[in-house]
Amino acid sequence: MRHIMAKSLAPTDSIRDYMAAQEKKSLLRFLTCGSVDDGKSTLIGRLLSDTKQIFEDQLAALEKDSRKHGTTGDDIDFALLVDGLEAEREQGITIDVAYRFFATPKRKFIVADTPGHEQYTRNMATGASTADLAIVLIDARQGVLRQTRRHSIIASLLGIRHIVLAVNKIDLVGFDKTVFDRIVADYEEFARELGFVSVVPIPMSARFGDNVTSRSERTPWYSGPSLIEHLETVSVDEAAVELPFRFPVQYVNRPNLDFRGFAGTVASGTVSQGDEVVVAKSGKASRVKRIVAQGGDLEQAVAGQAITLVLEDEVEVSRGNLLVSPAARPQVADQFAANIVWFDEQALLPGRSYILRTETDQVSATVTELKYRVNVNDFAHEAAKSLDINEVGVCNLSTRAPIAFDPFAENRTTGAFILIDRITNATVGAGMILHSLRRAENIHWQSLDVGKRGRSDLKNQRPAVFWFTGLSGSGKSTIANLFEKKLFASGRHTYILDGDNVRHGLNRDLGFTDADRVENIRRVAEVAKLMADAGLIVIVSFISPFSAERRMARELMAEGEFVEVFVDTPFEECARRDPKGLYARALSGEIKNFTGVDSPYEAPQNPEIHLKTLGRSPQEMAEALEHWLTERDIAEEQYDNGGGI
Ligand code: ADX
Repeated sequence: MRHIMAKSLAPTDSIRDYMAAQEKKSLLRFLTCGSVDDGKSTLIGRLLSDTKQIFEDQLAALEKDSRKHGTTGDDIDFALLVDGLEAEREQGITIDVAYRFFATPKRKFIVADTPGHEQYTRNMATGASTADLAIVLIDARQGVLRQTRRHSIIASLLGIRHIVLAVNKIDLVGFDKTVFDRIVADYEEFARELGFVSVVPIPMSARFGDNVTSRSERTPWYSGPSLIEHLETVSVDEAAVELPFRFPVQYVNRPNLDFRGFAGTVASGTVSQGDEVVVAKSGKASRVKRIVAQGGDLEQAVAGQAITLVLEDEVEVSRGNLLVSPAARPQVADQFAANIVWFDEQALLPGRSYILRTETDQVSATVTELKYRVNVNDFAHEAAKSLDINEVGVCNLSTRAPIAFDPFAENRTTGAFILIDRITNATVGAGMILHSLRRAENIHWQSLDVGKRGRSDLKNQRPAVFWFTGLSGSGKSTIANLFEKKLFASGRHTYILDGDNVRHGLNRDLGFTDADRVENIRRVAEVAKLMADAGLIVIVSFISPFSAERRMARELMAEGEFVEVFVDTPFEECARRDPKGLYARALSGEIKNFTGVDSPYEAPQNPEIHLKTLGRSPQEMAEALEHWLTERDIAEEQYDNGGGI
């Protein structure tokens, strides 16, 4: 839930002056992080209430002025305040972060108040994604904790360069300088590698206000600024304006035939009338004819401004394109390395397909390699096969189609992405792109003259992938075998990919952990795709327990080619049959991760074919399958013959 608590106002004669003053005042976005009991709420409450006096005076002034001038102009300011939040909403991040606004005569502030509990890393990361500075709260009695370290690493990953180390509850340790010094030394030692530009330690008591809005007499040994003084003056302008021009197109504005503009917010850099711009992915170039903004046309627009660009030429630009400066173009690649912070209860599994969303693109993506997990205590690189909730790792990713991006270190907007679970639609991770992978640049699609159509026409059939899923011992292999015999007898060209068999060769390096099963299915799906491309009717017989990977397999194949066959035999019946004696061993604990025993099976919700096996013979079911295939082929006789071989 977000709350914009209050808008604060500066002392001015009129609303217009006030607005002008507000707009000139810089805005600092920051977040607070720490453990639950470190006093975050108290601190935020104090900041709000200690600046509230100003607020109330000015509110009264504004009300008076409003009556005099009758303007609704302050809406503009409100929009300014929430624009960053809107951007997050568009990114589909659902979060539990409260945003609060306050101001002093010198600066405006938005603070993201993130819950402190361990499992709330997601919220912390979300709050951090637009913040310029983080206040890391530490309980003076406790010192630097695991959570302090985790949050600092996330802040660093998300591009925050300025830290306030708030050593809170200093009153509870008797305003002791040595305690403060020790905590500061501990933190600085740890944070050395995090690349912060400034770490400013402040001893404080949020509860009693020491060193929050004014310097405390109770810490005579401390000569630094109060928190507010520091927040008012800290310079965080590694300005987005200085970076190369980047303009993600949010929508194409075409109210009538005479006007075609591209609406969005300048992510970085500046753009002027007459500038040459390039569509990042296609490389098509044009010049800026007009820059349309709310109050009229502009000569120039800078990072943060919402505008509509009209170009000289009719270039192909659609929603999700990135318009850029031709002199400094972003990278365009479908393989890259990235830091990932994982939020979800369900671990990140290499090989599983997620939706990757950047400011401009939305594509299927998989982690092709988890290079290592980062230990949040000592930065050690640890070998890992998956990332659990709250873990951070360095990965290689591969996307279904190329995306345009900058390395995160160069641009926080175009270098960041989120990962979304395909089934639940939840945001499950945040990523920061490190660099594209050179190997991707050197591999191109080779165009071949003989195609799938030619190969399957020669075989007089249409390719298909019959994907059998079901528990071990459910009868998949038996039915698949009979089915293939029938197809073979009717002159079709087929191949069976059977779990047990493939695990003897191609997949002999894989076991039965979740991560290995995901990779098992990824590989066999790719092989099935190649076989379908060869024009074959492929029968895949794998437990394939996870719906995410079955869906991934489906999406790999051409429309209508993937036929999910649920071989539905109840667990009790499989365990009773126990053809390989595996159930007995699994139930006695001798085999670990056995499907249906201590590893899950996610039954298909909408399989093309649902075979309830109880009381039916395998022969009967194989016949039903053949019938299904024949019907499909008749229905799709129009499977046209045009277009190459
Ligand atoms: S899958 O889950 O990764 O799709 P797959 O179909 O390749 O599994 O392999 C399943 C076969 O491996 C089973 O039919 C069974 O013979 C054997 N097996 C050995 N250990 C296990 C286990 N822990 N869980 C399931 N099957 C196992």
